[in-house]
Amino acid sequence: MRLAVILLQNAVRLIGLVLIVLGFLFWARQAYSLVPLHMWLGITEVVLLWTLALLALQVRVTLGLVVTGLLWGLLTVAFGWNMGSLLPGRAHEIVRVLHFLIGLGVIGLAESLAARIKRSGRTTAATTV
Ligand code: HEM
Repeated sequence: MRLAVILLQNAVRLIGLVLIVLGFLFWARQAYSLVPLHMWLGITEVVLLWTLALLALQVRVTLGLVVTGLLWGLLTVAFGWNMGSLLPGRAHEIVRVLHFLIGLGVIGLAESLAARIKRSGRTTAATTV
């Protein structure tokens, strides 16, 4: 399971970096044709977070962190999917900042879950997936 966690963790980092770079391009009013790619990569990022949350559940990492990971993923997709219609006009900048912070939260939670799974000491052959 340790290898799976390392692969998931690095995939989260790589996709997270691409999401942030694309996001800042959008912020600079560039590359709008890549918004659908950004959205699907964002959903993939959330699926990776959920996978880590389920692995964490399997090795009995704090239930609070697992539940937070699952719910945060749901919030991220719901918010990202609907953000275009939230607070139009100048106030939309608040929505953009919130979306960015929620997205950073996905990466942070995935890092915490991965670190806790590795520290749990239950990533050996007995729990291999
Ligand atoms: C999971 C990590 C994610 C990160 C780090 C991230 C990051 C960003 C950033 C920095 C921006 C530009 C500023 C802003 O508008 O907030 C942005 C824009 C956007 N993101 Fe994400 N995002 C993530 C996930 C998602 C998901 C899951 C969706 C949709 C399902 C999504 C949809 C969008 C949309 C529609 C825009 C607006 C483009 C525009 O019209 O300006 N994002 N994202």
